[in-house]
Amino acid sequence: MPSALQPRVFATADIGAAALDRLRAAGYEVEVYPRIEAPPYELILARVQSGIAGLITTLRDRIDEGIFAAGAAAGLKVVAQDAVGFDNIDRAAADRHRIPFTHTPGVLTDATAEFAFFILGAVARKLWPAEKLVREQRWGAWHPYHPMLGDEVTGKTVAVVGLGRIGRAFAQKCLGFAMHLLCVEPAGAPGADGFIAGASRVLEAFAALAPGAPPGSIRLVSLREALAAADFVSLHVPLLEGPNGTRHLINDETLGWMKPTAYLINTSRGPVVEEAALARALLAGRLAGAALDVFATEPLPAASPLRDPRLEDRLRLYPHFASAGAITRLSPDPDRGMAGRCVQALRDVIERGDSPFIVNREIFA
Ligand code: GLV
Repeated sequence: MPSALQPRVFATADIGAAALDRLRAAGYEVEVYPRIEAPPYELILARVQSGIAGLITTLRDRIDEGIFAAGAAAGLKVVAQDAVGFDNIDRAAADRHRIPFTHTPGVLTDATAEFAFFILGAVARKLWPAEKLVREQRWGAWHPYHPMLGDEVTGKTVAVVGLGRIGRAFAQKCLGFAMHLLCVEPAGAPGADGFIAGASRVLEAFAALAPGAPPGSIRLVSLREALAAADFVSLHVPLLEGPNGTRHLINDETLGWMKPTAYLINTSRGPVVEEAALARALLAGRLAGAALDVFATEPLPAASPLRDPRLEDRLRLYPHFASAGAITRLSPDPDRGMAGRCVQALRDVIERGDSPFIVNREIFA
């Protein structure tokens, strides 16, 4: 039976029953929007106006000035985002109304990094067209090179653009494939040099394990140098606006620096890639292929140039799926799952006024 003392929480999606049950067991009254689609904006606003203490959100909800203004008037204590990214949350508005919002960094690092590596392999080794051959009964005979060949990954050169948590985890996976890593750190992530030094020691250990096998390598280089030399380019930067930002970091000009035999992988944020430019490059054969998990507009619009059927053999498209491992998404353990971390962050703010997962710490300044 809800009581006036029970803090009320509205979750715009079922982020995971086990984690939400823990919240209930801790004395919270939790309402969950039951549909797969995002709730209408007016519904979120109405819940906030009704005086909830916590709002659990996902990347598909617009959390803007209107929501924060209503929250400030009605006693909203925290917005807890069930994702590491927060492009859907207006940070300036949160700051104006001094409402903290949290996110879930750390728990999805490996799931995202391994997914980036897997889709790199999927596009390079042509897993999709190869499976289609079998499914469509077009697998005629075994032949040395008909109807197509893929490109190997082991020993190739990979540009790792962005050396934050996920970029580093992706780089670690590439080390095991004896790749040559050209790391780019546009934002100057702290500790990048230390990471390169540690990775070099790992490569020495691998070399000792397999004497005579060609060793991999790792260096920190400029974007231009990395793009020009890479067989694979994998993006791991946040979406940053402004003159030194990352919006359309990959555009006609930077695509032109890449080799026509190279592949582009994006599991970061859609707007980092100028999609029309990418489609043009793929169509013209100025790039071998791409694998994308994120898009400028999600879900991917029907009219997107990326849907051109002529690109189907060389362009893999995924539904923002990189963190979609069962444990990563749903575990109630705050050290393993996004749901657990999201709920923990919400409780930390409501119960003790702080959490290590608050994004807009500037409100405490
Ligand atoms: C997924 O893209 C996330 O930001 O968690």
